[in-house]
Amino acid sequence: MFSQRASEVTPFLVMEVLEEAERMAREGARIVHFEVGEPDFDTPECITQAAIRALSEGKTHYTHSMGILPLREAICQHYGQRYGVDVTPEQVIVMQGTSPALFTVFAAILEPGDEVILSNPHYACYPNYIRFAGGVPVYVDIREEDGYQLHPDDIARKITPRTRAILINSPANPTGVVLSAERMAGIAGLGPLVVSDEIYHGLVYEGREHSILEYNPQSCALNGFSKLYAMTGWRLGYIIAPPGLARTLQKIHQNFFISANAFVQWGGLAALRDPACQTDLTRMQATYAERRAFMLKRLQDLGLRIPHPPTGAFYMLVNFKRYCRDSLSFAFELLHEARVAVAPGIDFGTNAEGYLRFSYATSMEQIAEGMDRLGAYLAGNG
Ligand SMILES: Cc1ncc(COP(=O)(O)O)c(C=O)c1O
Repeated sequence: MFSQRASEVTPFLVMEVLEEAERMAREGARIVHFEVGEPDFDTPECITQAAIRALSEGKTHYTHSMGILPLREAICQHYGQRYGVDVTPEQVIVMQGTSPALFTVFAAILEPGDEVILSNPHYACYPNYIRFAGGVPVYVDIREEDGYQLHPDDIARKITPRTRAILINSPANPTGVVLSAERMAGIAGLGPLVVSDEIYHGLVYEGREHSILEYNPQSCALNGFSKLYAMTGWRLGYIIAPPGLARTLQKIHQNFFISANAFVQWGGLAALRDPACQTDLTRMQATYAERRAFMLKRLQDLGLRIPHPPTGAFYMLVNFKRYCRDSLSFAFELLHEARVAVAPGIDFGTNAEGYLRFSYATSMEQIAEGMDRLGAYLAGNG
């Protein structure tokens, strides 16, 4: 009834926890949400206003398949100013999020059996993109004791004649780890195409993040507006591709998606260009930084060890092996018993089994309440 390809797609477990939490909420339960990977902030007003203006000006038609030129120019300017890299609008394909960008890149580059190297743990959906396009995920272990750092030497050992790409993500989901400049440069020089998911760029609280394009212009940088600009529901992202690949990506996008939503693209342009937006970004970043410090302290006060506090995104991957072996059933137990929703580590790969991912994209009050509930639950079940 279904294709082999479709039947091999694994469920996104975080969404299953969220759906159960929503079901409980409909029955009157008050749930604290640490599972969701999305900002709790509303989209900055200047972005919303720009999109409303676009709609009332009749910007309701298909756009160029690669996206409206002013947005592609603004993306190039953003990468130029922030990372000192020189990219042109012909290399940029605007899409409905980073998710379709991942889908399109792997559809464009993988032959059946081609290998893509990525870390374990990793963003939950990555292996599905690779397998669906006929590829084979090949994992490099990263470990808590080592601060979940991805070492170029470990990647090099996994390279075979079938290796088609290396997929990296810094700041990372689920670990919050930011790759150092040296590691990034090392990975960029290994040989295979690097696909760099830069969706958490701008959300770094110590040090700074780097783009793969600083080290190798023949790489693919994927980025989007969901996280930094609090625009998850708008669906807007993009690929910056090497010139030789951009045309192929454009053809796939033209055929299967036509273009990103017109008025949403005008909202994205305001996100990059309107100075008022920068004020909102600064406020949101400062708020995440406070929440990060608070959540870290509260988790440590519960006796949970976080040997290398994460410095980016809005996640903490926390070792619960003292309390559980099966993170999925433990996540549901915490939800049902303590009304605290968390992401089960197993969603992110076998090396995160026994761990739970906490998102601090929620208010200080909710973090305090959730930590109180977690503390009471662990005290009763330790
Ligand atoms: C690492 C990573 N990449 C991509 C995405 C999807 O982003 P988008 O909303 O742009 O499709 C997410 C969402 O959680 C993510 O964590």
